[in-house]
Amino acid sequence: METKEFNKTNNKLSVMGVGTWQLSSDKEENIKAIRYAIDNGINFIDTAEMYNTEDVVGSAIQGYEREKLFIASKVWPTHFKYDDVIKACEASLKKIGTDYLDLYQLHWPNKSVPIKETMQAMEKLVEEGKIKNIGISNFSLDEMKEAQSVMSKYEIASNQVEYSIVTRDIEKSGVFDYCKENSIAVIAYSPLSHGKIFNNKELLADINKISNRYGKNPAQIALSWLLHRENTFPIPKASNIEHMKEDIEAGSIKLTEDDLSFLSGLASKYPIEPIANAHKKNEDKVNEYNFKEEKID
Ligand SMILES: NC(=O)c1ccc[n+]([C@@H]2O[C@H](COP(=O)([O-])OP(=O)(O)OC[C@H]3O[C@@H](n4cnc5c(N)ncnc54)[C@H](OP(=O)(O)O)[C@@H]3O)[C@@H](O)[C@H]2O)c1
Repeated sequence: METKEFNKTNNKLSVMGVGTWQLSSDKEENIKAIRYAIDNGINFIDTAEMYNTEDVVGSAIQGYEREKLFIASKVWPTHFKYDDVIKACEASLKKIGTDYLDLYQLHWPNKSVPIKETMQAMEKLVEEGKIKNIGISNFSLDEMKEAQSVMSKYEIASNQVEYSIVTRDIEKSGVFDYCKENSIAVIAYSPLSHGKIFNNKELLADINKISNRYGKNPAQIALSWLLHRENTFPIPKASNIEHMKEDIEAGSIKLTEDDLSFLSGLASKYPIEPIANAHKKNEDKVNEYNFKEEKID
């Protein structure tokens, strides 16, 4: 798997990472799939306190050289007060079984806690060596600018946002361009539209017009389209080795300009609404994903 600079950081990341939200109930299979990914050149693994998969990631990375991996986790918005951010990070470190995170991300904006307070805690974590880089997730253009403006020592390394061949809202909102112009990496989550691309037969038939010529399947071509986007690191989730293998193979596809242009046009024909929209309509309900607010001691 090719690697590229994770922008402002000194890290070279595999061009594709691994997502770990809603893994299957078969933990051993999940662990095998993540280890398969590492063995095949992926060094970037994304988790979050809300996913309940930090322990799976911790088990999967056992035995690998820690410095060769880039482990990202996230703090959930109910933990955005200063002390809670620190405690949530320490809890994540414990669950993953590591001394530091390469990237710690604010999972969603939370208007009820001043962003300055949250960012001060994130900067403290960098100073203490518990995290190497600060990221955000699901932040709009204005929210990104505000988050950066309240930071005094460090810069935002990445914004993790929903982005796929047919979910292209970040291009319209200005987030994509702003990230590129400011060397903020775009981590593309739900790069297969949370599996929804497989439900649309017409969309699949159109992708197949391209994929057949490359001897690949639509998932691989959809991922490859993202991999051809500048400044973008997709993090597909695959619960088993078979899917993981296919996703990794997408890393070596080189699409022609004509094919890229045809694929780019599919978003206007078959747009898929971001799953984030449902959440944004209920921003006060930060527990939407059944995250049980744990008391962190
Ligand atoms: N920051 C955020 O708020 C946020 C929100 C959503 C997601 N994320 C992150 O992004 C990651 C990926 O997003 P996602 O999990 O929503 O969805 P996704 O990666 O777009 O799609 C996952 C679905 O695609 C299937 N799949 C994967 N590879 C495949 C292949 N080669 N062929 C056929 N099917 C394939 C998976 O099946 P199997 O599981 O059976 O392999 C699963 O059903 C998450 O795991 C998480 O780390 C972040």
